[in-house]
Amino acid sequence: MKFFVDTANVDEIKALIPTGLVDGVTTNPSLVMKSGRDFKEVIAEICDLVDGPVSAEVTGTESAQMIAEGKVLAAIADNVTVKLPLTIDGLIACKSLSGEGIDTNVTLCFSANQALLAAKAGATFISPFIGRLDDINIDGMELIRDIRMIYDNYDFRTEVLAASIRSANHMKDCAIAGADVATAPPNVITGLAKHPLTDKGLEAFLTDWSKTGQKIL
Ligand code: G3P
Repeated sequence: MKFFVDTANVDEIKALIPTGLVDGVTTNPSLVMKSGRDFKEVIAEICDLVDGPVSAEVTGTESAQMIAEGKVLAAIADNVTVKLPLTIDGLIACKSLSGEGIDTNVTLCFSANQALLAAKAGATFISPFIGRLDDINIDGMELIRDIRMIYDNYDFRTEVLAASIRSANHMKDCAIAGADVATAPPNVITGLAKHPLTDKGLEAFLTDWSKTGQKIL
């Protein structure tokens, strides 16, 4: 499973890159607002930092504007993926941009039917939002499982990019369900390494090592 980092904060991305866990980055208008940065500048900077796909979202709501904005965003760097909302206009823009060889990420997906439409429109990625479904007591992971089954039934090449991930359990469940990618905030990714028994075991090892009076360096 590929890990994308869900942030527009360059410092957070820089801090995570040495872990080898940054296969790509996803942003959205809210994350860009939170970064306080110029949108095109921060996307360009992130694309320089990361070899993998970097999602940059259009803000138009009609297909013609989405297509025009998508071309502007795609021109920023070769690894820009144009993010489009799952609306009819977004699907029209997806079909057009994908047809021109521009990678697309159809976002704000909350049903398997929506994901089916995105695959038929040639989306590179589909972004089903797990956490926001959980927030209204709908099982977000069931959506991931349904999309995986539908895409495998028809051999769609669209990659399942699980999004709106809030916990280590979401990451585990996405890997079990066969998501191609999971995008998560930096703290969720680093939190995957944490376990109290690891901390306890390491402390015991170091305590016993100190009793040997030896040093490696
Ligand atoms: O960026 C897309 C998605 O990951 C947003 O997550 O936590 O705002 O629902 P969230």
